[in-house]
Amino acid sequence: MASASSSTQVVPEARQIPRHVAIIMDGNGRWAKQRFLPRIAGHKRGVEAVRSAVRTCAERGVEYLTLFAFSSENWRRPIEEVKFLMQLFVHALENEVAKLHQNDIRFQVIGDLSRFDAQVVRLIQEAEERTRNNKKLTLTVAANYGGRWDILQAVNRMIRECPSKAEGYSESDLMPYFAMRDAPEPDLFIRTGGEKRISNFLLWQLAYTELYFTDLLWPDFDAAALDAAIGSYRERERRFGRTSEQLQEITTEPQQRVSGT
Ligand code: IPE
Ligand code: IPE
Ligand code: MG
Repeated sequence: MASASSSTQVVPEARQIPRHVAIIMDGNGRWAKQRFLPRIAGHKRGVEAVRSAVRTCAERGVEYLTLFAFSSENWRRPIEEVKFLMQLFVHALENEVAKLHQNDIRFQVIGDLSRFDAQVVRLIQEAEERTRNNKKLTLTVAANYGGRWDILQAVNRMIRECPSKAEGYSESDLMPYFAMRDAPEPDLFIRTGGEKRISNFLLWQLAYTELYFTDLLWPDFDAAALDAAIGSYRERERRFGRTSEQLQEITTEPQQRVSGT
């Protein structure tokens, strides 16, 4: 599959609705703690917020939604919590995929699958296969994903397939090997839960993404909260290295042409 273009090579087209939204769904544990519930109750409620985000993105015309579900560093958590998160993932794969398919949603998982059980890998592959031709929205779940893992696996595969290049490798040589190779770079990054960090999410792809942080905890992140994030995105001036004046020239040009005719 052809890879998407790079924001450092080609300036992306400006749109009112972000084509690609990437979310760090954080704050499940704190949501539960506030209610004197075990952390896992927060993860359970988090699944409902995922459903709402998928539905709202599809309705608003977002084309790609990428959700960080489990990082390469989340294995450091207590074993019971890791086990519960895996069970929740299996449960979602077994129960949600038919609905995604009915709604014309393509589902895929990115991350290092080598640490997952064969059963989980099989469920992921079946879901990806079943939904591969769907067009409404591409939903990508990042599981055992790390931005550094992604860059390293891409570099290693590139070198394996093309062991040397006298003039040096370019961005376009590397891009076909990234886990997100067929998606445009995220336009809007959202992190719930109040922390202002990237936590090893899509390090390469976030180069020019608009960043949005909210104190809302993930289980409380509803359609109105997503609309607020998109509203903030709309007010941003995406310069990609250019000046504000240059952007104004671009936006006024077509009007000048119209008024001149
Ligand atoms: C995010 O919520 C879910 C995962 C990382 C799997 P947390 O579990 O990190 O919630 P907090 O940050 O402890 O509140
Ligand atoms: C980031 O959340 C990863 C996911 C949401 C899956 P964390 O809660 O693990 O991030 P840190 O540890 O606070 O940076
Ligand atoms: Mg957290």
